[in-house]
Amino acid sequence: VRRAEMSAEKNQILGKDKYGLDTPCLLIDIDVLHKNIRAMQESVRGKGKNLRPHAKTHKCSVIAQKQLDAGAVGICTAKLSEAEALVKGGIERILITGPVVLPLKEERLAALIQRCGELILVLDNLEQARLLSTLCEEQGLSVHVLLDIDPGLRRTGVSAEEAPDFARKIMDLAGLNLRGIQAYAGQVQHIASYEERRQRSMEYMHSAEEVFRKLVDEGMELDIFTGAGTGTFDIDTDLEGLTDLQVGSYVFMDAEYRAIGSALEKEAFTLFEPALTMLAAVVSSNQSGFVTVDAGLKSMYRHGGTPIIIYPRDALYSYDWFGDEYGKISFAEKSKSIPPGSMFELVVSHCDPTVNLFDRFYVTKDDRVVDMWNIDLRGKSS
Ligand SMILES: Cc1ncc(COP(=O)(O)O)c(C=O)c1O
Repeated sequence: VRRAEMSAEKNQILGKDKYGLDTPCLLIDIDVLHKNIRAMQESVRGKGKNLRPHAKTHKCSVIAQKQLDAGAVGICTAKLSEAEALVKGGIERILITGPVVLPLKEERLAALIQRCGELILVLDNLEQARLLSTLCEEQGLSVHVLLDIDPGLRRTGVSAEEAPDFARKIMDLAGLNLRGIQAYAGQVQHIASYEERRQRSMEYMHSAEEVFRKLVDEGMELDIFTGAGTGTFDIDTDLEGLTDLQVGSYVFMDAEYRAIGSALEKEAFTLFEPALTMLAAVVSSNQSGFVTVDAGLKSMYRHGGTPIIIYPRDALYSYDWFGDEYGKISFAEKSKSIPPGSMFELVVSHCDPTVNLFDRFYVTKDDRVVDMWNIDLRGKSS
């Protein structure tokens, strides 16, 4: 029924001017999306590394497939349920970057190992590693694993000091195929100064790199050292041992990432452009100097930078939060009249949690709707 409803809605809106869509809604400019996907792929390949983009940003198997088609070696998810949805969407090479706790999720995990072409898990606890090994032995399965090393974020992972011994113990566990390590330094991704970000990332990631080298020197056949986010996409590639980047936000960009410095600009990061925007409509315009729009906390996740208004372009507008359902859009010209139904287009604060609030993307080209994609990983947080 849902699929039939979706295709009926799709037929109605194809070819429509995007500023005529119902609001609030999420838009994707398909040309910008493709440009971002290509730019990251080329940049990473140019440095001799692989790309394993993170689906936690877009939560959409159509976009994951585009990233694979462009040359990515696999797709990352944060959670088991995201991986389950990707497999349903036809994606086969998946790395789950967060711990999957056993025995809590053992039935679902065993089913996924069987269904997914190449599933890679991360480990940071020896007892969990043993439980995973037992599960594999009992069910006649084997699974690829990475040792998660904590590069100072202190969220998941083992310390670099503990890591070598841990890796040796994993090697002895039946059913587990140790492929390498993961190290994600989330704490440095949004440092405003590019130079400081570079320095801090190198400091934090260096110890993980040393572990990787040590294990390889010991004779372990490891082919994956994965890490990096959008903020360090052109920094962590300088780590000789790093094999692949698990960047996520570059595909859409958001106000938070637009504001940090980059290699090219001191106070802006414009190499990747906002492919994702939100359309909001004026619902009340009885005040002077501002109007009320229909996108508030329930449609735009409040974290990171202030949303940036990119349409209309005729004046300087600024967005402010106005409760659960509403936003306030202010302008300098007090006498200006912006009637209900007028449209604003915004770059959202933080793309990942905002996407998780919607069922679909309206895909546009030259401001016309050309497609509608299901956000099939939406709400998959278990
Ligand atoms: C483990 C892990 N890897 C990669 C990423 C992608 O980071 P970004 O969206 O900054 O590119 C994240 C984002 O939070 C993450 O948690």
